[in-house]
Amino acid sequence: MTDFGHVIDGVERDSLDGARFDSVDPFTREPWATVALGGAAEAELAVTAARTAFDEGPWPRMGFAERGALLHRLADLIGEHAAELAMADTRDMGKPVSDALGKDVPRTAQNFRFFADHARLATAEALPMDTGHHAYTRYEPAGVVAAIAPWNFPLMLESWKVAPALAWGNTVVLKPAEDSPASATVLARLALEAGIPPGVFNVLHGYGPESAGAALTADPRVDRITFTGESGTGRVITGVAARNLTPVSLELGGKGANLVFADADLDVAVDWSIKAIFTNAGQVCLAGSRLYVERPVLDEFLARFVAAAEALVIGDPKDPGTQVGPLASRTHYEKVRAYVDNAAGKLLTGGLGEGWTIRPTVVVDAPADSPIQCEEVFGPVVTVTPFDTEAEAVHAANNTPYGLNAMLFTENLSRAHRVAAALRAGTVWANCFFIRDLRAPFGGFGDSGWGREGGNFSREFFTEPKAVVMAIAAG
Ligand code: NAI
Ligand code: MG
Repeated sequence: MTDFGHVIDGVERDSLDGARFDSVDPFTREPWATVALGGAAEAELAVTAARTAFDEGPWPRMGFAERGALLHRLADLIGEHAAELAMADTRDMGKPVSDALGKDVPRTAQNFRFFADHARLATAEALPMDTGHHAYTRYEPAGVVAAIAPWNFPLMLESWKVAPALAWGNTVVLKPAEDSPASATVLARLALEAGIPPGVFNVLHGYGPESAGAALTADPRVDRITFTGESGTGRVITGVAARNLTPVSLELGGKGANLVFADADLDVAVDWSIKAIFTNAGQVCLAGSRLYVERPVLDEFLARFVAAAEALVIGDPKDPGTQVGPLASRTHYEKVRAYVDNAAGKLLTGGLGEGWTIRPTVVVDAPADSPIQCEEVFGPVVTVTPFDTEAEAVHAANNTPYGLNAMLFTENLSRAHRVAAALRAGTVWANCFFIRDLRAPFGGFGDSGWGREGGNFSREFFTEPKAVVMAIAAG
């Protein structure tokens, strides 16, 4: 068994009372690591470390170039430790190691490089005023950032939060999800090795309610809370943060619609639609879990889509050939299994697999108001529904309390722009999926969240913009 501790003030350590919990490998269904279990006392220590490092330490006072160099050094170390980081996520939550190594880890390194460079190169407004004054904006670091992360893309989603927060001069307490704690400790070890000062990046392990997560979000010394996870948890955290007037950024659930028009390139549409729902066993907030296909191509699309779903390699996520691994935990498997067992409509393919695995599952004829069509299943399960008109497709896509993302497939340029404008979603992908420019806003409409991250949007959240107004005396 491997051990993972909290990393607080530059030291990897146990909880004060020595409490630990096991991280279970969802493929073997056995514990593979033991992890320090934090609570209110450890949250107190972690916030104190981050507060002191912010109020008294060098990090917020360093130049952007110097801070950026340390973040680039961390990115180098992430590359050098790619195998260890990838296997940590794979063992913790069952992600195929080919995805962890091929996508999550490189994107993590890229996030640190991008936000370091973005902060260093950013310009700020300068406003020559008619009144004989000159105003300009300074982006001051906000302070202590609490980052609360989910288990579906552990390392990568943590870096979306930690990288911009650090690049803008904040200090951070990261609480990874209890189902995927290991890679955060490895990342914090590497940050220290890179030369990032103690207390700047702290990792606190534990559960959410009545545990480390709740204590962290309630601490009045925290200046920003950034959360990714379930919409219900987002509501709870927002309520707690409101008592301290702590600004919150929320990236929550989704029920992504994926519209395939009859004039689409079907090869492109099938390929991306498969990736959109079966990558990471569908445990993706951006999953294209509601497919709508224009009736003239429905049969052709379904035949190809089902064949591609059945061709996916299911198995041990540690095997480099595996494309679909188990679900992340027993609890989550039971939840997704209940959706499959009770699915309204007809299963064209899929169903239960070995252990905690669900095979890529395609459901047709599910009524529009059935749970499988309306709720975030967060598994490899897609519903397919025909439509007859563009207006009907847009209406169906928008008929959800969520609004994180949507996809559309068409070769008609005007239709692509028209439908992209009509969709109520934070990201619309046309003829592709999951392509990200880190300058672009990322976040959702409706129950999918609050605020946006990425580029200048991250700067807005992780800084306190300050106006400086200077009188210019007449000469
Ligand atoms: P969750 O939202 O409960 O947990 C996410 C993170 O929040 C974890 O680090 C957890 O410890 C923390 N947390 C939970 N309650 C908290 C509280 N009161 N105060 C502070 N921190 C708290 O998600 P969970 O339980 O892991 O998964 C539940 C369901 O949520 C899944 O079955 C899935 O459907 C959905 N989910 C959606 C995600 C998305 O990105 N849209 C990501 C993860 C889960
Ligand atoms: Mg939970």
